[in-house]
Parts: sequence; structure tokens; C-alpha cells
Amino acid sequence: MAGQISQRFIDDLLARTDIVEVVSERVQLKKSGRNHSGLCPFHQENSPSFTVSQDKQFYHCFGCSAHGNALRFLMEYDNLRFPEAVEALASRAGMQVEREGGDDPGAKQRQQKREEGVNLLELASGFFRERLALGQGQEARAYLERRGLSQDVIRDFGIGYAEDNWESLKRFLLDKGIGEPVQVEYGLLVHREETGRTYDRFRDRVMFPIRDWKGRTIAFGGRVLGDAKPKYLNSPETPVFHKGRELYGLYEARQANRQLSRLLVVEGYMDVVALAQFGVRNACATLGTALTSDHLQRLFRLVDEVVFCFDGDNAGRQAARRSLQTALPSMIDGRQVRFLFLPDGEDPDTLIRQEGREAFEDRVTCASPLSEFLFEQAAEGRDLKQVEGRERFVTAVLEALKHLPEGVLKSLLLKELSTRSGIESSHFSDWLATHAASEARRTSRQGQPPASGSEDAGYAALMIDAAEDDAPSGVPASVDNGNNRARQRGLPASRAGAATLSLSLPARILHLLLHEPGLAEGLPQTLDWCPETVPDGPLCRSVVQLLRAGRYRSPQVLLAHFHGTPEGERLNALARRELEIPREVRASELDNWVRHLERESERLSPVEEYRQLLEKSRQPGALSAEEKQRLRELIGKLAT
Ligand code: UTP
Ligand code: MN
Repeated sequence: MAGQISQRFIDDLLARTDIVEVVSERVQLKKSGRNHSGLCPFHQENSPSFTVSQDKQFYHCFGCSAHGNALRFLMEYDNLRFPEAVEALASRAGMQVEREGGDDPGAKQRQQKREEGVNLLELASGFFRERLALGQGQEARAYLERRGLSQDVIRDFGIGYAEDNWESLKRFLLDKGIGEPVQVEYGLLVHREETGRTYDRFRDRVMFPIRDWKGRTIAFGGRVLGDAKPKYLNSPETPVFHKGRELYGLYEARQANRQLSRLLVVEGYMDVVALAQFGVRNACATLGTALTSDHLQRLFRLVDEVVFCFDGDNAGRQAARRSLQTALPSMIDGRQVRFLFLPDGEDPDTLIRQEGREAFEDRVTCASPLSEFLFEQAAEGRDLKQVEGRERFVTAVLEALKHLPEGVLKSLLLKELSTRSGIESSHFSDWLATHAASEARRTSRQGQPPASGSEDAGYAALMIDAAEDDAPSGVPASVDNGNNRARQRGLPASRAGAATLSLSLPARILHLLLHEPGLAEGLPQTLDWCPETVPDGPLCRSVVQLLRAGRYRSPQVLLAHFHGTPEGERLNALARRELEIPREVRASELDNWVRHLERESERLSPVEEYRQLLEKSRQPGALSAEEKQRLRELIGKLAT
């Protein structure tokens, strides 16, 4: 049984929460003097009498006397009971609710032990950091330097060095009064059964502390300086460390960002650290294991968007398929998962060194959405021009969708499947219902999940045959359709509206504005964000201008304006496409696209940048050190 939420935890939670942030996620606040104020959400009013104090972490309404701390606010505003409000705040802060032992006498002891263990690991971590700075650490320092790590990153990640000695850590800890059994239990010391001897687990390795959400060291990963095997050695499972739950770099990512919106999951320690070195401070890594649903839960408690990074080779695709399977059940609406495949032979560490932060972040922005990867996966090795190939394709997608929670994403995927297969989507609901039911029956009968069944495949084949006749226009889209093209062209993809993916950014904006002209009001004042040099760019500019001038409130009038021109035809074609983006997210999608375009148009082509820098360099002393470095880079790049 879960006990009471511990008071200590609540104190901790409130200390890590800023009430101004919590409130402003729900109420529009303006800073006024030392406080923030806004319209009170708890009573009707026209002038603001609701204030929030950052210093006191308290809200108060002078109109209706509502008042309290962040927890109280959540209880009132979101109508939550106390434990629910604690859960909500904790998940926002990425914390796990801690409960009092209460009815469980072991709990207190476990808690105490946990603290002891963490203490010991902290001591070890400090010891490793010190060794790195001292004489013995020279080679390790040189190694880290060769790998391009700055002092700042080494410090932020608490990187250290375990010297080449069988018992230096053991002695250090014994001196602090920490006995061998505890050192063994927490994985620092290895105990040889045969000889009864003990020795330091980590020797002559660069040490990466793995930290929990509070920044306390709970385990280590150690890398050899050369090519010895194993390359990395990790702490074993201990009372405080469970590989399948922890992510390396998560704490550091949260430290570096006040507000995280996206997390990147990479494979290695070095990838996380190298990305941080280049300013990409939202990456974390699994610890040599496959992604688990525990990992995902942890990630989704912090952000709504997770991008998985994989090697481009077979192993990488295999890992991606597994991660897709793991992710499906967690995909409730509002969450987004994407897949980034790196060029063969590269990892994030090598890639960001080669191409720099911006190019790498562009890859991240343009990573395949789950939908795209799912369809691609289902189509792989299948000839979709043949009925049999399509049948397997449909079955594979449906098998996956079975695990997806109900919601907009699922509906959109079903719709997309219908478009691609030429089968009416009502058949799919039947299939899913039948399948879920028969699976439940089989599972309860045999007490284990069924092997993926061929009887279902037969059913899908039947459906296709039935649909063939009445769907002449439903020629299945080849899977190498717009989605892939969109990615090659480097467009960001959105979870909503897989069909939108095949459009360029200005076309997407046009598409959206044609359906909802009112959104033009939220666009930036000037048109600088919309380049004239890209397809649909000029048309997008004129449409926005017209809308902003306020004369064309309805799509029909807008279309009439362009009637009989090539632009009119283009707009008609776009207007006929269905808009699959849910109303609630249209404004934010539009905003995303505009911002992306803006960034793109700000970026100079290398040739242009080179010209400008060269021009500047004609004046003596005009170039900064970075600019000189950049110029050298560009010369190297353009020369090849
Ligand atoms: P990689 O071999 O891809 O390591 O293993 P890397 O991060 O690119 O390392 P560098 O660049 O050579 O330093 C990825 C991850 O797999 C686990 C580690 O967590 C590592 O970061 N691993 C790898 C091990 O646990 N043991 C090993 O021997 C190798
Ligand atoms: Mn590497």
C-alpha cells in the first residue's frame, strides 16, 4: 500500500516550483512591480485584482479573497484533490512522489539506506573529479581535450577519472568509515568469490557520474582511455540504480533549461556530452539498454516531444523499430515522438563536430514523425502495387495501431491508412474491434498474449478485395510519397495531419489560411519571414497581405480574388485538400512553421556568408576571433 505523501517531499516540491510559472500556464499575468497580476480566475471581474507574489510563492485575490500556494492553486483551478495536485506539480517538475513509510516499517529503513548509498556515491564522485585535476589525471585530461570537451562541460557533467590502481577508491572510502560490504553493494568494489579479495571496479577510466533528478550521483559509467575492452563499464544494478529507468544526462538537461519542451534520446555518454559542448543541451542517453516504457514515462513527464536518434545502419533501424513498439501505448494526444536516422557510420558526437549545431538541430527538427516511420516500416519490403503486398502493409499498420490509445493521432493514422490503401476506414474500426476482442479472449483463455495471428491477415486480405471495386480513386499511394520528399527537403513535420507533410512550408501556411483566414491575425507584422525565392513563397506573401488588409474574411472571397489565374488554381488545389489539423493546435502549428521559415531565411548560404566575411576582412581588425575561425572553416568547406 502506498503511504502518505511525505511532508519533506511536499516541501521539496514547493521549493522547486515557481508559482508564477504554474499560474501563468493558466492565467495571463502581467508583471507589476514586485508582483504579477491578472484577472482572477475564481470570480468574474473586468479589472485585475488577482496577484501572485514570486517572493512569497503565494497568490491572493483582493476581490474574492482566494489565496494560497501553488498546490492550492492547482486544487482550485484544476479541481484536483490534494494528492492529485501533488502528482500534477511533481510531474511538472519531473519528480517522483515520495510517500511516508506509514504502514510499511521497511520503507523508512530502505529510505535511510538509499541515502547512505547516495552519500557514498557522491563521495566517490568527488574523489574521481579530484583525481582528474591532479597529476595522475593528466592522461585523462588530455583524452578529454582530444575529444573536444571544454572545462565547462567537464564541470557541468561532473566528469572525473578513476586512477590506475586496484584499491585507491576503496582506501579513500574506508578512511571515511565506509565498510567494504557497502562499497560492494553500491557497485564500486568488486568482490571475488574464489579468493575473497576485493578491488576497485573502475580503474584507469574517465568517469561519468549518472545522476538522479535531484542531481545526486546514483551510478557511474567509465570509459577506457584507449581501445581496451570493454570500452564502457557501468555500475551494476544497485538499490539506487536501475538501468531500465535511468537516463544519462537528464538532470543536466534540466539544469541547463528552465523550460524544456523537447528531449533528444541518443545512445552514448559521449553523444550527450558532445552535444552539450556544442550547445545542444537537451539530450540524454539510455545506458546501453533498449528504451523501456519506464524511460518513456520519465521523458513524457518532462516534455511533450521526444526525438530518438539512431544510427543509420541495420542495428539502428532495429533499435528504432523496438522503440516504436515501446512508444505506441504511451502516445496519448499531445505527445509526440519522432525518429532521427543519422548517416551510416556517424553518431551525434561525430556528426555535430562535422556539421555544427544548426545543421544538427535542423536534422532534429525534421526527424520523421511516428506516423511516417510507422508507414515506412509497414511498407518495407512489400510491393504495394500488389494486393498481397498491400494486405500485409495494412495488417502491419493495424497491428501497431492496436496498441495506440484512442485519440486524434489514432484517427488521423486510420484516415491516412485509408488513403494509402484505398480501403474505407470504417473497415479498420471493425478490424480493430474484432481483433481486440479476440485477443482479449485468447489472452484470458491461455494467460499469454497470442502470437501475431495469420487469421487476422486473412481478414485484411478480404477487406482489400471488397474495397477494390468501390474505390477506383483510392489507388494506393506509393509509400515513397510526399512524406519522404518532405523530409528530404528538410521540412519540419507535424504530428497533426500526416497529409500536410508533403507540402512545403509556405504551402502549408496557405492551406491553413485558406481554411481559417482569421489565423492571419496572429502572424508577425512584417513579411520578412516569408521568402520570395521558394515555391509558393510569393503567393503566400500576397495572401497574407490581402488577409491582413482585412478585406477577405472568407475563403470563397479570397479564392474569387485569384480566380482565373495560375495562383487561383494553386489555391483551389490547396483548398480542396482536407485540413486534418485539430482546431486547438492550428495557431501554434502556424507559429511553428513561420518561425521555422524565419530561421531558414535568416541563414545565409555558405557562399554568401563567405563573401560577406571576406568583405569585412578587408578592413584590418574588423573580424572577431570567431569570425576568423568561421572564415577558415568556410574556405576549407568551399575548397572541397
Ligand atoms: P558506443 O560504442 O556507441 O559508444 O556505445 P559511444 O558513446 O559512441 O562512445 P565513444 O564515442 O567511443 O566514446 C553506446 C553506449 O553503449 C553502452 C554505453 O552506454 C555507451 O555510451 N556501452 C557501449 C557499454 O555499456 N559498454 C560498452 O562496452 C560499449
Ligand atoms: Mn561515439
